[in-house]
Amino acid sequence: MAALPPARILAIETSCDETAAAVIENGRALLASTVASQMDIHARYGGVFPEVASRQHILSIVPVVEQTLTQAHLALGDLDAIAVTRGPGLAGSLVVGLNMAKGLALGTGLPLIGVNHLEGHMYSAWVYDSPQQGDNAGENPPPEPQFPLIALLVSGGHTELNLMESHLKYKRLGATLDDAAGEAFDKVARLLGLGYPGGPAIQNAAEEGVPKAFNFPRAWLEGTWNFSFSGLKTAVLREVKRLNGEGKPLPVVDLAASFQSAVVEVLLQKTLMASREFGAKEILVAGGVSANRALREAFRAQQEFPVNIPRLSLCTDNAAMIAAAGYFRYALGHRDGLEIDVLPTWTLS
Ligand code: KG4
Ligand code: ZN
Repeated sequence: MAALPPARILAIETSCDETAAAVIENGRALLASTVASQMDIHARYGGVFPEVASRQHILSIVPVVEQTLTQAHLALGDLDAIAVTRGPGLAGSLVVGLNMAKGLALGTGLPLIGVNHLEGHMYSAWVYDSPQQGDNAGENPPPEPQFPLIALLVSGGHTELNLMESHLKYKRLGATLDDAAGEAFDKVARLLGLGYPGGPAIQNAAEEGVPKAFNFPRAWLEGTWNFSFSGLKTAVLREVKRLNGEGKPLPVVDLAASFQSAVVEVLLQKTLMASREFGAKEILVAGGVSANRALREAFRAQQEFPVNIPRLSLCTDNAAMIAAAGYFRYALGHRDGLEIDVLPTWTLS
């Protein structure tokens, strides 16, 4: 690829329940990132309450952008483009971020670049703290991407295997037929009385438990690159009902560990199979569930492929990933007009 132009991108992300902004230089060096989480507000509903989320974004978006620019020691005039998540996500939440981005683009004359949230998750894997700023300033940047690569995207709303052939070029090999991996974590956590969000709660409980205590089903869906987690969730529910019926105390930690190991095993093995089949030079794992310790350890323990998993703070939703993907769109000439709308069901293509 021809040398890419230097550029600083401000990005905004409001697809779900985090109001986030970040500035990235040249697609990878993070200058500042702010994430205002609404987790505590939604925890009392046991999940994200869409109308509450959009109204909270309205309250947070201006301070979050201002704080990000201050932290980066930059003014709007120092930027080259405004990137923003267009979808997929909650329409009412996406609208707040998109309107903020449009206002900034209109006021500054900077180009506006709409980014797919899933594409953002993929690009989070190559982000590092700039040598001047951030908690990890001076860290070694992860190596440049090696194409073709296989990307496993595991979040609360999506579970997909993608073949990435070059920057911004993806082929979806398969996806979940029912629940996303993160959704399965959240639902099973609720079944086990572990609260919201379920992923970290299951992870913590699982650390005290025995992964082989229960032999839960693995849906291999052979001959496809698809996934399915609803059967596993039902199997956990059946086991919980059986134990409750017998008046036995729930072995929550063993149930959590056995559930988690079933999810991790299928995600790892199917990703490895796809990587062999498509001659991948590396594996990328991203999205909220890539924060899971057992999943990270399982991928890092295999020796067959180099694996790139974002650092923990970039696994769950953030704007650094949108700025990173937005930079490559900017550098390759993508521009959006001020008339663009949100795309709540946008697929990666
Ligand atoms: O990417 P993300 O922040 O939002 C979406 O785009 O969906 O992912 C959120 C999902 C939730 O389902 C949450 O339970 C899950 O990621 N998650 C985890 C962990 N941390 C977050 N799942 C398993 N283990 C974790 N440590
Ligand atoms: Zn996400």
